[in-house]
Amino acid sequence: MSSPFPLFPDSASALSGEVDLLFIVWCVISVFFSALIAGLILYFMVRYRRRHPEEVGANEREAMWLEVGWSVVPLIIMLAMFAWGTRVFFRIYRPPADAVELTAIGKQWMWKVQHPGGQREINTLHVPVNQPIRMTLASEDVIHSFYIPAFRIKQDAVPGRYTSIWFQATKPGTYHLFCAEYCGTEHSRMIGWVVVMEPRDYEAWLAGGAAGKSMLASGAELFQSLACVTCHRAGNVGDGGRIARGPALEGLYNNQVKLADGRTLIADDTYIRESILTPTAKLVAGWEPVMPTFQGQVSEEQLTELIAYIRSLGPAGSAPAGGSGGESAGVTEQP
Ligand code: CUA
Repeated sequence: MSSPFPLFPDSASALSGEVDLLFIVWCVISVFFSALIAGLILYFMVRYRRRHPEEVGANEREAMWLEVGWSVVPLIIMLAMFAWGTRVFFRIYRPPADAVELTAIGKQWMWKVQHPGGQREINTLHVPVNQPIRMTLASEDVIHSFYIPAFRIKQDAVPGRYTSIWFQATKPGTYHLFCAEYCGTEHSRMIGWVVVMEPRDYEAWLAGGAAGKSMLASGAELFQSLACVTCHRAGNVGDGGRIARGPALEGLYNNQVKLADGRTLIADDTYIRESILTPTAKLVAGWEPVMPTFQGQVSEEQLTELIAYIRSLGPAGSAPAGGSGGESAGVTEQP
């Protein structure tokens, strides 16, 4: 932790250096041109002032090179700023494939974090150093915004859908975690700490925490207790002669789904969440709209656990892949 009122927040993630450089270069360009233009205005005001009441303006020759120059040079600079900013933007919003998945759920007025192994924490976030982390964000009530200045990342948590952001911390230490969206009377108190640890300290912390079940195991349990399994069983037709009532979920995650209305979409977190809460919104082609809604029966937290479980289901016939929690789901598929 540095001084309580630093001029600049710590720079502690793999992308923060690049974000800072972008920011500083843009500031320098903006200040340079603002000063140049303001200076020229002042200079010309004095240089070409009216010296006596009878003086009239004289025609100036056009300077083509000057006019072309002050149009083309700024155009090139702006296009370069655009290209560079876009590159950084895509790096910030595209997590690497080996990122560990954590969830943070915003709620008036706290951040509830869950680790893949099931460890939960409120208003703190323990992460290992030098490991890409992808945060899936959700909200239980209003829009919050997940903001870690030292990592130069900020992403809204929006009710009704999932958003995500990733980072890779580069320095062990403790950093501010803020909510950066006004979300009610105690918004300013919706703050916490990110604790970046050496990998072995992180392992020790994970082991020491009162870890319940992994997200995967909790999801697998919910899949049973909510009776999802009665309709969504592996091998989507004919189980003991009966026709299953819902499509099998093996291999569903992040794959294409063909809908009854002819559209095709990717079964991402937001789609699966919607299909649990509002099953008829995007009906899968070939299935009847018989699934009841689970609105009000599952919390945001349980939804993320169910999705962790569905994510772990490999293609039909294979064992659950294990996900990032590394534990077996405890549910075996029907032969
Ligand atoms: Cu949550 Cu501001």
